[in-house]
Amino acid sequence: MRFLILSDIHGNSEALAAVLADCAGEYDEVLCCGDLVGYNPNPAEVVDWAQTNCRIVIRGNHDKVVAGLEGLDWFNDVAQTSALWSRRQLTPDQLTWLRDLQPGPVQQEAYTLFHGAPFDEDYYVLTPDDSRDCFGCLETEVSFFGHTHVQGGFFKRRLQVGRLTSVLRDGREQTIEIEPDSVFIVNPGSVGQPRDGDPRAAYALFSPEQRIVTLRRIQYPVETTCRKIRDAGLPEALALRLFRGQ
Ligand SMILES: [Fe+2]
Repeated sequence: MRFLILSDIHGNSEALAAVLADCAGEYDEVLCCGDLVGYNPNPAEVVDWAQTNCRIVIRGNHDKVVAGLEGLDWFNDVAQTSALWSRRQLTPDQLTWLRDLQPGPVQQEAYTLFHGAPFDEDYYVLTPDDSRDCFGCLETEVSFFGHTHVQGGFFKRRLQVGRLTSVLRDGREQTIEIEPDSVFIVNPGSVGQPRDGDPRAAYALFSPEQRIVTLRRIQYPVETTCRKIRDAGLPEALALRLFRGQ
């Protein structure tokens, strides 16, 4: 079984289409670490796609807020505006489906999925120190998470914790070998709103049989997404950050 791992699509149809075209034929099932909606102009289309194509979707913090499960208090003004706008784009059935998404962690035989951290879906795991508390909560060798919009992740080998290498700015992919006696938490990066300085859409492929995770980046027509953001009357900051990848 080969898996396509996606996270933080955030209503970006152009980035999602580019990812799916880039890895066509290379996976059997799609797994999503949350945040289908919010920020970008096509939440309904992304939810519609996920309902049909994802084997497992766990909820992200934006899914939770857009679905009305949590208030807007923790969001800044831009996130609040886009969450309320996204809610208006979804049908009652889509909102119900979003509301019913399972929270992480979700554990399967070969992997675990969570959004922020296994103990808190709103927690940002950005540094090796942040990752230390996660490893004690996980029972599989490999886990996938999102929320930070930063591609890469962390490993633990005996008492050592370190950062995984991500894709270089002029590269297309980075391979991570799942070595014995190590535990890995991997962030595939954000499909729809990267924040690691690389504006290209991010994703990962995982082969438990080959014991390999492949991180990838692919360009997409950012200008089209930005035009749609402006046409929808969403905040300009949401367009600008897509160009910068921040
Ligand atoms: Fe997100």
